[in-house]
Amino acid sequence: MDASAELPDYRDDPHAYEVEEQSRPDEMAMIDGVAAAATAVLDRLPAEAAVLDLCCGTGLSLMGVVGHPHARIALGVDNCRSYLDHARNRYSGRSNVSLLEGDAIDAVLPETCFDLVILCSAYHHIEDDRKPSLLQRVYDVLSPNGRVVVGENLLPPYQPGVPDSYSAAVRLFYEQVLVTALEHDPHLPAGVHGLIQRVAQYGYDGDYEYKTSVDIFLRHLPGQSARDRARS
Ligand SMILES: C[S@@+](CC[C@H](N)C(=O)[O-])C[C@H]1O[C@@H](n2cnc3c(N)ncnc32)[C@H](O)[C@@H]1O
Repeated sequence: MDASAELPDYRDDPHAYEVEEQSRPDEMAMIDGVAAAATAVLDRLPAEAAVLDLCCGTGLSLMGVVGHPHARIALGVDNCRSYLDHARNRYSGRSNVSLLEGDAIDAVLPETCFDLVILCSAYHHIEDDRKPSLLQRVYDVLSPNGRVVVGENLLPPYQPGVPDSYSAAVRLFYEQVLVTALEHDPHLPAGVHGLIQRVAQYGYDGDYEYKTSVDIFLRHLPGQSARDRARS
């Protein structure tokens, strides 16, 4: 029998998702980093800013912006109903927050233009052949002076199209994730350890988690020459 079938799952389970996130200092640092960067952008934007969080999940990545005085609206889009229900509950007291169920790439949005777009742990959830379309969408909905904040856990370099090279990069990445999770909590419960293994397994299988490297991400960025990308 496939041993991975025994692993606990967080897909469609918002509580399991957040338990897994909170067990991982790397993920929490990324979410905090996104909040700090988004706050810095909003500080410089005029009041009445429109914020879009694509693949907002349970709403963790919106936490840093919803209370900012310049955030006129904060719209989160996700295709997982149970995660969105959790986010709706989280932000039930916030009149500037809306949550939309749909595909990040082609959901019809209520506004045409956003001053800040957040992609937090979003890019690696999009199938490889649709990744450029996600980044193109961000580019298309951004206002002329808009800014994008990206938080992403990218693999070390690997050879695209070579499965062993990709698997080795996933393994290296998740060995480090486990090291940091165990440093954070040496008594990591077995169920939480299993959730982290589940994330890694999705990565190996190329199912739900479509991990990729920084080089590939930079190649997918629209509207810039390769030289500009290398400089930025
Ligand atoms: C790792 S979670 C990140 C959630 C949130 N941004 C955070 O930082 O906690 C990835 C999210 O992407 C969502 N997702 C995956 N594919 C999607 C798609 N095509 N359109 C919209 N959401 C998608 C999943 O449902 C999940 O909530």
